[in-house]
Amino acid sequence: MRIDVAFTPAADGAGEPAAVAIVIDVLRATTTITCALEQGYRRVLACGELDDARALARRLGEGTVLAGERACVKPEGFDLGNSPREFTGGDPLGETLVLTTTNGTRAIVAAAAHAQSVLIGSLVNLTPCAAAAAKLARQLQGDVLVQCAGVKGRFTMDDAYTAGRYVTELAVWLSEWERSDAARAAEAIVAGFPSAGDGLAASQSARNLRAAELYDDVRFCARESVVDVVARVGDLDAGVALIEPV
Ligand code: MLT
Repeated sequence: MRIDVAFTPAADGAGEPAAVAIVIDVLRATTTITCALEQGYRRVLACGELDDARALARRLGEGTVLAGERACVKPEGFDLGNSPREFTGGDPLGETLVLTTTNGTRAIVAAAAHAQSVLIGSLVNLTPCAAAAAKLARQLQGDVLVQCAGVKGRFTMDDAYTAGRYVTELAVWLSEWERSDAARAAEAIVAGFPSAGDGLAASQSARNLRAAELYDDVRFCARESVVDVVARVGDLDAGVALIEPV
């Protein structure tokens, strides 16, 4: 059994069946999902396309909140954007959050088609999420894949850095699991930065957020293990992933 990392959705290993996949889009979709469930949303419905998200939110009606981004910005007609700071403090605006983002929600939907169990990984819930993934891998006696969302199919440092932090945490619980070369490379990336803030700041995602005047989100997402919630994909139906707290 092994711990592996796919640095992009098309990387070797990304489409292979793993027992457990941890999807990472630390800036910002997977952090936002984690924070939304912590704030009190009962479920998040992740979908890849704007029109599908709009139609789903319309169909579900009352109690449904439509959120997401394109080019880091809230799309027209949406209730909320994709900033995790919009899901912090105060009460949720409804029970169900429909979320569509450029990379993260698509990566979740893709992973759910291949892995037996899919968890939503971020730095804010690093230790609880890694512990939950390790427990599942032990139960299933299978591989763990840390799947980075990247940016438009390309490698990004923020997800790679976070993947490295996950590999190190997973290895504590799964000491007999072999680490692939990609997993060791992710750990080497972590060693190259003095802090999570620096690792995330070195990414295209952070540069995009700076250009959109949303750089406070980078600082917010770089905090480690400050949230206990672990989110898991419970179902995949017609390209929509149902995500609930474990
Ligand atoms: C994504 O899914 O592409 C990201 O979360 C983009 C963003 O920062 O909003």
